[in-house]
Amino acid sequence: MLETPAPNRPTLPPEIARRRTFAIISHPDAGKTTLTEKFLLYGGAIQMAGQVRAKGEARRTRSDFMKMEQDRGISVSASAMSFDFATADRAFRFNLVDTPGHSDFSEDTYRTLTAVDAAVMVIDGAKGIESQTQKLFEVCRMRDLPILTFCNKMDRESRDTFDIIDEIQENLAIDVTPASWPIGVGREFIGCYDLLHDRLELMDRADRNRVAETVRISGLDDPQLEARIPADLLAKLREEVEMARELLPPMDPARFLEGSLTPIWFGSAINSFGVQELMAGIAEFGPEPQPQRAEPRQVGADETSVTGFVFKVQANMDPKHRDRVAFVRLASGHFERGMKLTHVRTRKPMSVSNPVLFLAADRELAEEAWAGDIIGIPNHGQLRIGDALTEGETLRFTGIPSFAPELLQTVRAGDPMKAKHLEKALMQFAEEGAAKVFKPAIGSGFIVGVVGQLQFEVLASRIELEYGLPVRFDTTQFKSARWLSGSKAALDGVIAKNPQHIAHDNDGDPVFLTRLQWDIDRIERDHPDVRLSATKEMMTG
Ligand code: G4P
Repeated sequence: MLETPAPNRPTLPPEIARRRTFAIISHPDAGKTTLTEKFLLYGGAIQMAGQVRAKGEARRTRSDFMKMEQDRGISVSASAMSFDFATADRAFRFNLVDTPGHSDFSEDTYRTLTAVDAAVMVIDGAKGIESQTQKLFEVCRMRDLPILTFCNKMDRESRDTFDIIDEIQENLAIDVTPASWPIGVGREFIGCYDLLHDRLELMDRADRNRVAETVRISGLDDPQLEARIPADLLAKLREEVEMARELLPPMDPARFLEGSLTPIWFGSAINSFGVQELMAGIAEFGPEPQPQRAEPRQVGADETSVTGFVFKVQANMDPKHRDRVAFVRLASGHFERGMKLTHVRTRKPMSVSNPVLFLAADRELAEEAWAGDIIGIPNHGQLRIGDALTEGETLRFTGIPSFAPELLQTVRAGDPMKAKHLEKALMQFAEEGAAKVFKPAIGSGFIVGVVGQLQFEVLASRIELEYGLPVRFDTTQFKSARWLSGSKAALDGVIAKNPQHIAHDNDGDPVFLTRLQWDIDRIERDHPDVRLSATKEMMTG
């Protein structure tokens, strides 16, 4: 089915060309954790399935915040994992970046997706496209990310294969090409036919950690099929594959790369079935580390000079130490530990002496890293989301937005004497990108803005846990926030006339808060030289 050759790409150095940096998106419960675990298992990063979850549980018991995550069945802590994957003739390095599965964290997800070159969309074969899948997919589409689809839980009663494919095509407006085709469903599911390589893959139900059997065959008429597949299932398979080849588009690497076509694999993550084929698909179709949008110029992964950008900051990863780790996606070059890079926003040199790589659930000192890799840089708050690191060039990576919050609330410390502590905690969360924090020009206290209600609860529990500070969130009269920009004189004019609507964010930038859209229209009409915007690019220059 593979008809078009891979499009010509600039030749990357082999170390970079073998990297695949991607995220998994899915609705909670579709099987993201199980699939991740199997990736790590085949990647040699863990020896036994169950380790990721076991580690997760040990970590969770340490904090209520994590417990809340567990209770709700969501993953709000981000991480990056690097592991190896080898095909018959090539060794790959995979970088998997975790995305929060809950829509209340969509801004975080969006930023995470700025760091990857592709996404794996996991769906439950019985449920099809669910609400979170749809939302996360839309975020991928905004970035034209190539998507590989894994239809999971085929060992359970699932929908008809054509129905699943139709649903994806209709709901997500993307063409689907089957990379594999399931043989039987539920208890009768015995494996898949690999349409890309004319292979039969049979599932071994007895051993979940065992690699399934693969039989090389010469097409659907190969007599080996009769010996291995019950007659009724084989007849159905032949008919369906013939129909699929007639009705569905063939795999086209160029269309996959531009995000308009997704190959779909069927399998069962828990039975380790279909996982290796999906990994081989990631290896084969990629993409390789892609050029990154920046100003004044795009940055190619093949450039020799090291550049990278911070897409995530995570504080207090270890509650015992107030450490803060900036997750950096390397956009170009070959990074070596101890390198002196320029922190573009402050123009200060930064010696990166203890960068970390995340291997499965462990961290390891990164002696070197290449374009496409994700490294963690421990720091004391200098590194913020959107910051660029270069070997001296003034670059600004674009497209890492800060969205206007959709929900605003006031926050107060239970103990009024602790207002300063609260301010410190809030500033930290604002820098992490976990919330927007606004200090109103009039009055005391803070207004916190988030995208989803659950974020208030997570913030309250983190402030209590990490700073020992019980806090209360309350409603505020304000419903919208808009960042103000323009000349100083123009801004001063708006600020002087509307003091009750003005606040400043954690960078000190002015923000207009209001209850009514009408107010926003009024300011736009009365002050044409001031811009009100719903997003602020988190960036530096
Ligand atoms: P998530 O990260 O996307 O939320 O999903 P997760 O992997 O945690 O999987 C959700 C549930 O689905 C788990 O069951 C998991 O075992 C199950 N599951 C994952 N893949 C498959 C599959 O291929 N087939 C079947 N039948 N089930 C699968 P659970 O009961 O919630 O947890 P557990 O007790 O099994 O750990």
